Order: sequence, then structure tokens, then C-alpha cells
Amino acid sequence: MNDATSSSLSSSPLSDVLPNPSQAAVNKASQVQEMFDRIAGTYDTLNDWISMGFHKQWKRLACQKLYLPMGGKALDVCTGTGDLIAYLLPLVGEHGEVAGLDFSENMLLCARKRYQNQPNVFLTQGDALALPYPDNTFDAAIISFGLRNVTDIPQALAEMHRVIKPGGWMVNLDTCPTPMLPGMRFYFSRIMPLIGGALAKDAQAYQYLSESTRHFLSPSQLKRAFEDAGCIQVTSQTLMLGSVSLQAGQKPI
Ligand SMILES: C[S@@+](CC[C@H](N)C(=O)[O-])C[C@H]1O[C@@H](n2cnc3c(N)ncnc32)[C@H](O)[C@@H]1O
Repeated sequence: MNDATSSSLSSSPLSDVLPNPSQAAVNKASQVQEMFDRIAGTYDTLNDWISMGFHKQWKRLACQKLYLPMGGKALDVCTGTGDLIAYLLPLVGEHGEVAGLDFSENMLLCARKRYQNQPNVFLTQGDALALPYPDNTFDAAIISFGLRNVTDIPQALAEMHRVIKPGGWMVNLDTCPTPMLPGMRFYFSRIMPLIGGALAKDAQAYQYLSESTRHFLSPSQLKRAFEDAGCIQVTSQTLMLGSVSLQAGQKPI
């Protein structure tokens, strides 16, 4: 694993990177990339606030579902500031490797600072829809709060499936459009943008979080998407009164 894609991707327009994208998809991807570039500096603090610290527990559980072997290789797609990497490292140990990929330069900058002294963390700027890794490279791959943002969910899952080894696991953790309590919907649509406005000075970005959650796939649709990507033994569960969902599936041997 190396960082070879970083410089080429950062200077290319996104339209050169996405496979046959429609103009609408290019526009959405560019807007998402710009938005995360904008909020990178406050992203981690805001996550603590809007999830009331619960995201740590969800991430730990999601990483356990990867069944990573000690000394194994893990991939974190849409790694952002690399928060999830902190949960993956103890699972693979010092002889293992963790790769993180994201298309936002500023989010990756935060990750690079955080893991600058960690020789087994490899960060790459790239597109989740065209992963720059050979087939069957990783023991497991995870995407956390990223799938909702990509313009082609089946393609992102197909890419994760392609780069994991036969028998490896892939996991999605993300917000869920069908929370059980009406109060949760109010929290997502009204309170979160207020917190985002106050702390990140970017209410629009946190309005997007609410909107993108509302239009995202349900847990059963995500389970189906994992199966369509070729996974077996697919499980799906909801957390936090249905406001977050978690899918795991295995690539057949
Ligand atoms: C909400 S953040 C999640 C960060 C991290 N995984 C976490 O759980 O905290 C979503 C990330 O997905 C990245 N992203 C969205 N679409 C992407 C794509 N097509 N390719 C690579 N990164 C993408 C954004 O740049 C952003 O950093």
C-alpha cells in the first residue's frame, strides 16, 4: 500500500476520477468534497457533540464485526479525519496495517497529523467509487458515515467487496432514515443544524447531514445492497433507537 494516488488525484478534477459519472453525480460529489474540506477542523468535536459521545461505542462495535486477524490488513473507506483507524489499530496490532482513503484533502490532513508517527497507517486521497487497490488486498473493509455521501452506493460496495480477500468481512455504519422515536427526527432536522451552526459555524453542512439521512437507504435496503454486492451471511442491526444502522457481510471463499 502506498500513497502514490495522493498527488495525482488532488490535482485532477473529480470528473476525471469518477467512472462515467452523470453531471448531477459530479456536482453532488464536488459539493460533498468541498463541504468536508470546510468542516474538517471541527468535524471530530462536532461528532462528539451531536452523537453525545455514542459514536465511539458504535465504531468499536462496527470494527469488531470485521473479525480482523492480528497482523491483518484493514481498509477504512471514507476515513475522513481517520477517527475509525484508532479502533482498527489495536485489532490488527503492530504487525498489521490500516489503510484509510478519502477524497477530502483537509479531512485527510487531520488524519495525517494524527497518525504521523504510526508507521503502519497508510493514508491515500482517492475515490470510494474507484478504489486504488488491487483485488483481494485486505482482510476486511469498513465504511463509517460515508456511504450516505457517495453518488453510487452499489459501486462503492462492489469496490469494497473487490478489494477484500475471499472470506473477509465488510461493514457499513451510518445514520438511519427511520428512527423509532419522532423526537429523533426533530433532533436530526432541527437541533443538529443548530449545534453545527453554533460550533462549526456551518449550519448548512449539518442541514445536509439531516437531509442526506432522510434520503438514505433503510437497514433492509442496505442489507439487500450488501447481498447484491456479493456478500453472504449478511446481518443488519439498528442502534440508538433506530437512528444508526450497521450491516456486515462476508465475501464468499
Ligand atoms: C461523515 S465523514 C465520515 C468520516 C469517518 N469515516 C467517521 O466515521 O468519522 C464522510 C467522509 O466521506 C468522504 N467521502 C464522501 N464521498 C467520498 C468518495 N466518493 N470518495 C472518498 N471519500 C468520500 C468525505 O470526504 C468525508 O470525509
